[in-house]
Amino acid sequence: MEPRAFTPVTIDAPIRTERLILRPMTLDDVDDIHAYQSLDEVCRYLLFEPRSRETVAEKVAFYSTATTLEKDGDFLQLALELPASADAPARVIGDSYFSVKSVANLGGEIGWTMHPDFTGRGYAAEAASAVLDFAFTTLGLHRVAADLDPRNDASIALCRRLGMREEAHFVEDLAFRGEWADTGIYAILDREWAARVR
Ligand SMILES: CC(C)(COP(=O)(O)OP(=O)(O)OC[C@H]1O[C@@H](n2cnc3c(N)ncnc32)[C@H](O)[C@@H]1OP(=O)(O)O)[C@@H](O)C(=O)NCCC(=O)NCCS
Repeated sequence: MEPRAFTPVTIDAPIRTERLILRPMTLDDVDDIHAYQSLDEVCRYLLFEPRSRETVAEKVAFYSTATTLEKDGDFLQLALELPASADAPARVIGDSYFSVKSVANLGGEIGWTMHPDFTGRGYAAEAASAVLDFAFTTLGLHRVAADLDPRNDASIALCRRLGMREEAHFVEDLAFRGEWADTGIYAILDREWAARVR
């Protein structure tokens, strides 16, 4: 099949899904993001330890500037905003990571983190679907992968819910918190995604 073309993109408007708004983080989000990035249960399989508010503020300041995808390594760390309702003000309930791994090979990487109060409701899948759609339709990528800890059952279930296939299981390739850990690779291709959403 003919390779597709990569289209550089700058995020200048939120991505809206049925229940969420995906948008670049702002400093106003720091408390909401700290509320989950400071939790042991959230960070259990993440590559960072629970974060202080000060660290979250530094990260958010940096992430808020990451809005353009045009070369290898460019990334987005989008806030998942649950809009205001009659019962509650708008708040950030998680974030979606996306990076361009290789413009030459049209490859990307996806990741996700939710506040535990908002898991089990399909929000992460809803956001990830929008990001995959963006990756394949807007950016023109061919393949999107997720790297995860194979002990992370919730993340594996999410990959499978999105139609991602287990492609690799690397044994003890990661020095993780004082021990060796494995890495699982899940992925989906543009044509597979298109067949799912048709
Ligand atoms: C990984 C993580 C994002 C998954 O979140 P999640 O809420 O379980 O994922 P989903 O959005 O796919 O939700 C699926 C659950 O919602 C339920 N659900 C409810 N309404 C739904 C809907 N409208 N659509 C889909 N699922 C729905 C599903 O039945 C499923 O429930 P189950 O877990 O009891 O089977 C979350 O566990 C997390 O943030 N973990 C900590 C950070 C982390 O490890 N990140 C990954 C690093 S690789």
